[in-house]
Amino acid sequence: MEAPAVRNSLEDWSGPLARETLGGRPTLWTRTSARSPLSPRERFRFRNGCSWRSFEPARSKLAAALVGKAPPRPPQPNDMVLYLGAATGTTASHIADLVGPRGIVYAVEKSPRAFAQLLGTATLWPNIVPLLKDVRESGSYLGWVPPVDIIYMDIPQPDQVRIATEHVTRFLRTGGRLMMVLKLASLGRERSAQEHLHQCLAELQRTLRVGEPSPLDPYYRRHAFIVAELREPQP
Ligand SMILES: C[S@@+](CC[C@H](N)C(=O)[O-])C[C@H]1O[C@@H](n2cnc3c(N)ncnc32)[C@H](O)[C@@H]1O
Repeated sequence: MEAPAVRNSLEDWSGPLARETLGGRPTLWTRTSARSPLSPRERFRFRNGCSWRSFEPARSKLAAALVGKAPPRPPQPNDMVLYLGAATGTTASHIADLVGPRGIVYAVEKSPRAFAQLLGTATLWPNIVPLLKDVRESGSYLGWVPPVDIIYMDIPQPDQVRIATEHVTRFLRTGGRLMMVLKLASLGRERSAQEHLHQCLAELQRTLRVGEPSPLDPYYRRHAFIVAELREPQP
């Protein structure tokens, strides 16, 4: 049976992602099979016979995008996801909740220190596959990662677009999506953030159908969240 899609209208608690307003602020929750919170700062509750973890915009750029004015379609149950720049696994664990037990999150991180914590996260979410790798050497995990539905990228590097397009070519299935955080502050003073954003979008548009970038204010200033789809090959 098809797993139910994750909706953008998140006012109910029947899917893996729910939304409510707490103290005047939008808060998201992911339904989880984990038995305890990932960190002491995370809120954990039981509702409708399920466990839920708070998915907080102040701690995850994906959550900040999802509470924004034009929220992207969240990762869906059963999706295969390649996550570039997983750090300790905060956002990766919420994506693992969303894709559920039949989905997989391949989580690439190059910092050994962050990776040690990511390994701990993966013991609680068996559908996270941690890879201690440098995304600039994507050939080193080519044999480990199958074609994926989503590439999620949160790596604030000057060559982030080049890295993204290389991964799209190698790992994204046709019709799949790139979800990318662009850090506009890391561009240098010689170009404005807007100029840099336009340049990044133009580069992405060579291979992808790129949606309108969303700002992540007020949680992350000078960041843009971009969703782009891999075009069908032209006949
Ligand atoms: C902004 S943090 C990611 C936070 C994470 N996405 C989250 O929401 O929990 C960026 C991460 O990218 C990692 N990173 C930077 N350059 C990298 C590279 N070349 N290969 C792999 N990881 C890299 C950093 O070590 C850092 O953990």
